[in-house]
Formats: sequence, structure tokens, C-alpha cells
Amino acid sequence: MNDNRLIIFDTTLRDGEQSPGASMNLTEKLEIAHALAELGVDIIEAGFPIASPGDFEAVQLVAREVTGPTICGLARCNPADIHRAWEALKDAAKPRIHVFLATSAIHREFKLKMAKEEIVRRAVEGVKLARECCENVEFSPEDAARTELEFLAEVVEKAIEAGASTINVPDTVGYAVPEQYAGAIRYLKQNVRGIGKIVLSVHCHNDLGLAVANSLAAVKEGGRQIECTINGIGERAGNCALEEIVMAIKTRSDFYGLELGINTKRLLPTSRLVSRVTGIHVQRNKAIVGQNAFAHEAGIHQDGMLKHANTYEIMRPEDVGVLRTDLVLGKHSGRHALSQRIRDLGYHLDVQQLQKVFEDFKVLADRKKTIYDADVEALAESVLHTGPAVWTLEAVTCSGGSATVPCAAVALWHKEGVIKKDAGTGDGPIDAVFKTIEKITNVYVKLRQFSIVSVTEDEDAQGEAQIEAEFNGRILRGRAVSTDIIEASALAYLQVINRALLREQLKMNPQTEEVSVT
Ligand code: KIV
Ligand code: ZN
Repeated sequence: MNDNRLIIFDTTLRDGEQSPGASMNLTEKLEIAHALAELGVDIIEAGFPIASPGDFEAVQLVAREVTGPTICGLARCNPADIHRAWEALKDAAKPRIHVFLATSAIHREFKLKMAKEEIVRRAVEGVKLARECCENVEFSPEDAARTELEFLAEVVEKAIEAGASTINVPDTVGYAVPEQYAGAIRYLKQNVRGIGKIVLSVHCHNDLGLAVANSLAAVKEGGRQIECTINGIGERAGNCALEEIVMAIKTRSDFYGLELGINTKRLLPTSRLVSRVTGIHVQRNKAIVGQNAFAHEAGIHQDGMLKHANTYEIMRPEDVGVLRTDLVLGKHSGRHALSQRIRDLGYHLDVQQLQKVFEDFKVLADRKKTIYDADVEALAESVLHTGPAVWTLEAVTCSGGSATVPCAAVALWHKEGVIKKDAGTGDGPIDAVFKTIEKITNVYVKLRQFSIVSVTEDEDAQGEAQIEAEFNGRILRGRAVSTDIIEASALAYLQVINRALLREQLKMNPQTEEVSVT
């Protein structure tokens, strides 16, 4: 193994999916896994097979269909988990089992109620059993960053002896700071027998906003695998953001001197895909993939940029997949120009999807004079929304004003082919629309956030509605775009309702809550 090669281990589908409200269906997971393979990640952690039948199915499908990266499944150090993981992974061309067991004092005492000897014994048994199924085994001492270094070194050494080929050092609760985390990696390098023959991996959570900084510090000490997620999604404040760590390593290759297998031009399209599928919006000023990441506002900066881009730009936008030109399309643009633009924007649509986008494009072109990239993206993303919808919108109308009772009329199609119509009132016209949708679908959610933003800056811009709602204690998100903000709001609300119905249908088995990890 080339010592300068940094392995990118993506856990968007496992740790990332643990973000509140980010659960994905099978088709969506497969779509993301294909995009990750195209991005060039080395390893995809596709799920935690014992957690639920849905997780098992997703890992199995990704293992069977996605070629290129190693496909990994998570398991605790017990026979049931490990056998289940292997069952899901066994058809992969390059499978990996990732076993974990907590090692910190607080986890030993309160969660596991196990003494140190017991932890070592179980870790060794777990790794050995995983090795009986699969050659490629990763071991994670959960909460490693809060584990006594001596004990951590002991567990790691025994796990290597038992056959682990990758040792991961999780900062499970995002408590570490760079010097200390790097110190733990250094300590392991200096004190563990056999450490030279395995890959040391880093896994940082972002509770203190330090996940990327901690991962970089560890890389400097010899960490050669980074566990990360697209857009940094994950439980609580999330995980190390893949796009940030990749661009830091690439932009500062003078300092790190490491090689990566990532096609960075796919970063932005992959980020958008994950945002669309999970409904988790990327903040405007987010590094690398935020809308403002390459925008220069101050006059002095703009002037400098015109003279030489490097005065204020450390990366070329096109290197992360930003297209410099905002080609304008209109009513008379043909199918060829549109499909070319869709490809340039990083979408891979099949013939039917292209046809649908073309039809929607013609409708949009009648409503809107100029169509920008953001509009084309919104169209492409709406056909890519593959989640099985129980309810779809046929029509919505509403009225409001200061001297009237806000009311709405809504017609929805049920997937069985039945149309249902109803009308209702609310505190405002949009509230009336939402209440009427709830009445028709008989699904009631608690709205927590609602916003409308314009997709482009022109006067006839499309509006993007974003919704966050609570359903049975879970956060669900919806997002939709239309030139009509009422229609966009209704579509986004329906997305939430459909996700709520999907949740009910896939209701995880009781074990899931118990076994979910960060
Ligand atoms: O954060 C964590 O400890 C994890 C492990 C399962 C690797 O996600
Ligand atoms: Zn984690």
C-alpha cells in the first residue's frame, strides 16, 4: 500500500443517515451509492444490516449493484450482528465488515457494564469471527478519543493480532481537539505492536465544529483513512465533511503531500444529490459546496479577481463542479441544448426522465422568460425524486387577505388511482393549504419550520419552499420548486406527508433504537 495514498471512507449512508430527518429509501440509497462510486470514494459504508430490514436490504443492494469501491457494513462485536452483516455483504466484489465496541470508561461503566478484560475479550472474538467471514475487517473502539490511551493501545493491539486490517479511532461525541486527537494517533503509532501493517483510520464528529480540523491533524500523524460524509451530515452536528477534507488535502498538497482517488468535479453534484434526497439544505456559506463559496461581493475583491483570480481564490470553482457560465435557455431552446446542459450540470438522466424534464421545461418556459442553471437543476431534481409517493398534487388554489377568511381547495391523487378533493380554512392561505392536505391524507404533522426562497434573482424567479415538520417524534423534511409559491409549498408539504407514510410503512424493528450509533 502506497503510504502517501489517503483512503476516503464515505459513511453518508450509515452515519450520515442518522441525521435527524435524513432517512432515505432503498432507491435513494442506491442512487447515492452510484454517485459516490462516480465521485471515486474508496469505501462506501452502506449501512448497519442488523439495525432494520431496510438497512439490510440497502447494504445488500449496494453490495450487488455498485462496482468500484469496497462496500462495508457495520456490526457490533457479537455473532448475530456479524453474520447479518456478512449475509448482506457477501455478494460484493470487495466486501468489508466493520465491527465496533466501546472502550471509554464512561461507556464501559454505564452503557456496557463491562470490565476492561471483558471488552478486550469481546473485541478479539468479534474481529476473529468477522475474519472467518471476510478478509477485510475494520475494528473501531467506539469513543476512542475519550479512552485511556494505555487501554486504547491494548485493545487496538489485540484487535490487530486477531486479524483487523484497519483500525479506526472514533471521536464519537466530537469532544477531541486537534492536538490531543493527533496525540492519540501518535501514541498508537509509537506503542502498538503491528500498527505498521494496518491502516489507521480517523472518524470525527463535529460537535465542537472541529471534525475536519481533527481529521487533518490526525492525517499529519499518519492516519491514512478518513471517515466522512457528504455535506458533513450525521447525528447531532454531523461528521467530517467529505468535500472539505478532500479539498483541504488537494489544495494544500504542498503541506500534506498526499494522493487521493477523488474526482473533485463530482463534489458539487454529489452534494446536491444528498441534499435533495435527505431534504437537508446546505447553508449558503458552507465551504466548497455552499451557494456563496465562490461568490465575491466586496468591490476590492472583485477588482482583484478580474486582475488575477488567485488574488482571492484558492481553488478553481470548476474543480469542485461549479460551472462558470450560467447559460441562459428559453422557450425556443431545443431538446439537445437542454440535455447537454443537464449533463454539464452533472445529472445522469435516462431517456424517460429527460423527456419529462423537457416537458416540464416547456411548461416553465411559458411561465418564465429566461431559464437559468438553477432552474434546470430544479427540474432535473424534481424528476429524480424517486421516493414512492402515496399522494401527488393535482391542483391547489387558495385565497387570503386582510378582510377575508383564508381558505384553500386542494385535489390530490392517491397512488391507487383515486382523486380526492377538499377545502378548508386556516390562519393564512398557506396554513389553509396545509390543513386541507392533512384532512385529505389523514396524516397530521407538526410544522416546525417553513421558508420560501427564490431560486434565481430575476423577477419571475421560481420559489423554493422548504419545510421541516415533526411526525411521531421524528423530523421530516420537504422541498419543492415552482414559479407559483403556493404550488411549491403544497408540493413540499406533500413530500413530508409521503415521507411520514413511508416511515410508518418501514417502521423499524424495536432493535433499531437500541443499536443506533454515532
Ligand atoms: O462515531 C462512532 O463511534 C461510530 C462508530 C460506529 C465508528 O460511528
Ligand atoms: Zn460516528
